[in-house]
Amino acid sequence: MKETALRIADFKDSIFGVISKLARDNHAVNLGQGFPDFDGPAWLKDIVYKKMQEGHNQYAPFPGTPSLREQVAKYYESFYRLRYNPEDQVTVTVGATEAIYLVVTALVNPGDEVIVLEPFYDSYVASIKMAGGVPVPVTMHAPDFVVDAKELERAISPRTKLLIINNPHHPTGKVWTKEELTEISKLAGKHDLYVLSDEVYEFLLFDGATHLPLASLEGMFERTITVSSAGKTFGLTGWKIGWICASREVSRACRLVHQYVTFSVSTPMQEAVAEALTKLPTYLPDFVDLYRSKRDFFYGEMRKLGFEFEIPRGTYFMMVPIGSKTRLKDVDYAMKLIKERQVATVPPSAFYLKSTEGEGYLRFCFAKKEETLRAALKNLDGL
Ligand SMILES: Cc1ncc(COP(=O)(O)O)c(C=O)c1O
Repeated sequence: MKETALRIADFKDSIFGVISKLARDNHAVNLGQGFPDFDGPAWLKDIVYKKMQEGHNQYAPFPGTPSLREQVAKYYESFYRLRYNPEDQVTVTVGATEAIYLVVTALVNPGDEVIVLEPFYDSYVASIKMAGGVPVPVTMHAPDFVVDAKELERAISPRTKLLIINNPHHPTGKVWTKEELTEISKLAGKHDLYVLSDEVYEFLLFDGATHLPLASLEGMFERTITVSSAGKTFGLTGWKIGWICASREVSRACRLVHQYVTFSVSTPMQEAVAEALTKLPTYLPDFVDLYRSKRDFFYGEMRKLGFEFEIPRGTYFMMVPIGSKTRLKDVDYAMKLIKERQVATVPPSAFYLKSTEGEGYLRFCFAKKEETLRAALKNLDGL
């Protein structure tokens, strides 16, 4: 048979699948999987059932159901004072992952360069490569995961079209400061770049941190494409309802791709998420509290085990430095922990193209039942 396409020739199985299989094979407690091991809210599951019973079961309009686009636009306005027209500036996608693929495909020509801030969510680079673009990594330097503005500017060339940022940041848990975002905005303006801002963890913030959408910074509304999704916010990652908020022109380009990749997204799920978004103000305090208590518990116990690091202010991940425990690199240490301690984590070097800084860390996901976290901690005891 002839070979499969060259554009995927260097793609490997995603690290998440590899770790999950190893976790199963070794009966390990899985803190590698980046999603809750408990269910989302019962009231929301009741809503989707109601939507099905009400007959929302045929193809939705391809840009998304009017009710979901309207509710997305409403929460951007009420939470962030950002005004998107649901008619032509909000597009519903199959999770943030499809949204990222659409944005990159709609904007990037073969040979165009795209800045990715490493460690990065792995679908960014895959999407860039599928579009024939060139990922250009700029490292968020450990231990504070800070980007050097000069280094960032040096990475920009006349071929740079797009920069991708993730805030709050997976896997580090970093929440970008206004100063850092302003720095990036200035460079985007100066070099006329689009910026894809992946904000899927926008509501998972702790210790008084607030979300500052990049699009709300001066001069950034037109050039920012904001991507988010309901998966993390409602603890139902399998529902896969995401969206893109962008200028009319970019939204139109994304929709042109979307109509041929997906055509339309699950109707009852969209209708349920639309209703759920109206409940954000009452839902969020308990939601954040639940994750904050998990974070505090897991962080406190990890410190007791001798891991030294700053507590993350966002997301449900921790990048834990392993240097005080081992001379092994992240991948080897992750394998050792799975096999000898029955605890699965993700080696973050999979999220880097250039720097080796990730080799000194492991990513732990604390979106787990208390019994899961306790079981993992028990297995790690005495390391
Ligand atoms: C930074 C980031 N972006 C996007 C996604 C994908 O989101 P979705 O499940 O909505 O496709 C994830 C999932 O883990 C993520 O961590």
